Amino acid sequence: MTFPSPSTVLVIIFTIIVSPTIAIVVAQSLKSYRKKRNPMFPPGPMGWPLVGSFFSFYKPRPLSSLGGFMEQNLSRYGKVFSMNLFGEMMVVSADVELNRYVMQNEMRLFRNNLPAHIHRLIGDFALVMLIGDVYRHKKAIIVPFINMFRQQADFVRYIEHLAKGLMASSNKGGIIYVREFATKFSFYVVAKKAMGLTPEDPEAEQLLRDYVTFYKGLYAAPINFPGSMYRKALKARPNIIKAIKKKLDQRKAKESVDEEDDDLLGSLMKESTYTWENICDTILGFIFGGVATTSTAICLVFYLLENYPKALEEMRKEHLECMRSKKENGEEKLTWDDYKNMRFTQNVISETLRIGNVAPNLWKKATKDVEFKGYFIPEGTTVVAHLAAVHLNPSVFENPGQFNPWRWDTKDVKKANNLLPFGGGVRHCVGSELARVEISILLHYLILNYDWESVVPDHPVSAALVTFPKDLPIRVRAVDYSL
Ligand code: HEM
Repeated sequence: MTFPSPSTVLVIIFTIIVSPTIAIVVAQSLKSYRKKRNPMFPPGPMGWPLVGSFFSFYKPRPLSSLGGFMEQNLSRYGKVFSMNLFGEMMVVSADVELNRYVMQNEMRLFRNNLPAHIHRLIGDFALVMLIGDVYRHKKAIIVPFINMFRQQADFVRYIEHLAKGLMASSNKGGIIYVREFATKFSFYVVAKKAMGLTPEDPEAEQLLRDYVTFYKGLYAAPINFPGSMYRKALKARPNIIKAIKKKLDQRKAKESVDEEDDDLLGSLMKESTYTWENICDTILGFIFGGVATTSTAICLVFYLLENYPKALEEMRKEHLECMRSKKENGEEKLTWDDYKNMRFTQNVISETLRIGNVAPNLWKKATKDVEFKGYFIPEGTTVVAHLAAVHLNPSVFENPGQFNPWRWDTKDVKKANNLLPFGGGVRHCVGSELARVEISILLHYLILNYDWESVVPDHPVSAALVTFPKDLPIRVRAVDYSL
């Protein structure tokens, strides 16, 4: 038997292994070179006639799943692709760099693109609707106002008191509907700071009902027919504005300013250029921003903790430990900063927001032609920054569908950069810290005073909003875990 000479072996190896590898590398670099020189509009499906991919994009899906539409297109076209919605070609991005670029260039290259039916509900003057100097001026009032919360010990006490009162009043024979409870809780937290409204206020219950109708319609299909959710929301809007205007008029009629008037309404009233319509829209938008989002996060945290008892146990330990060390230092009550600095609790909230995707995507319109990473996005194109797809990316988050608060234990820049539940850039959520602290205060009261379990299985469904088909009924049992 004759063996090939060493030179023949080398030729064989080169032919079988090395040359195809070189060919692939060259082809890849040529592709990326061509993409750089000739940026292209991302390819994607055209969907159905007239509606395009509307129904596939909004098809309800289980929590922590992106659904068939996203999964198929991500695997076929990659992280950036296009879709057709009612004849308009949009760019859908699951690419964290593109999403960050879009958010960071808000008002330079992109701007909020809320459809006309949402604009009609939110009004002309809410912060989300504004751009340019008018936006900056209003934001300069709202941000310092929110930053003051951390110094206000009485506000933390108010949230604790609210959690306790609402847990008692929502308890019907040992059963609490978490959706209803969480909506009330987040509404009264934000409405107090917006315009001094508390549950004892005679207008409070009706206003809360109108808000629920309002936000359900805002997330529903924009069908303006008698009985439709959208039509009901359109009717709720003037009621909300009327209630805010009443507060405004009462405040104007007062001879002196009380301490309770230290709210957003009070700050906006100092602006002589703001009309009453402007003030009422701002308050409406501020309360809306804090209710649908935070209440959903609260439902999700109840649901997830029941399913992951180890996380609940570790969180309980952290709260007891924090109280113990406060007591040793002669301090009685937990403060805003104590809550914010509870590491494991904040990890639970981060993980809930990652897996739950309360705000699954942001819609931004390019105001100029944009080129990014070889893609061409023409002026006027809407980019759907898909935050849920970033949060569920398996190459960043191992087992992305698993609730694992411990994944945030170690400082990992990559993971941190891929967590965007509150958006980013100039429009980063103004209520992000308030949301975290109010959820922490509620959890503190809940986990030290109650055990709970589901009455019937009720699993969250994600679409435009995360919903619980049965409003998440739980059975609660009072237990004293405190020191
Ligand atoms: C878990 C709770 C929350 C989530 C997930 C959330 C999410 C977001 C996101 C993603 C944005 C960015 C929108 C964009 O870029 O177009 C945003 C903006 C905003 N949020 Fe939140 N939010 C939450 C709680 C709150 C609370 C408690 C308030 C009120 C106190 C609030 C008020 C606002 C307002 C007024 C804006 C508009 C900011 C602007 O246009 O500059 N949010 N929120």
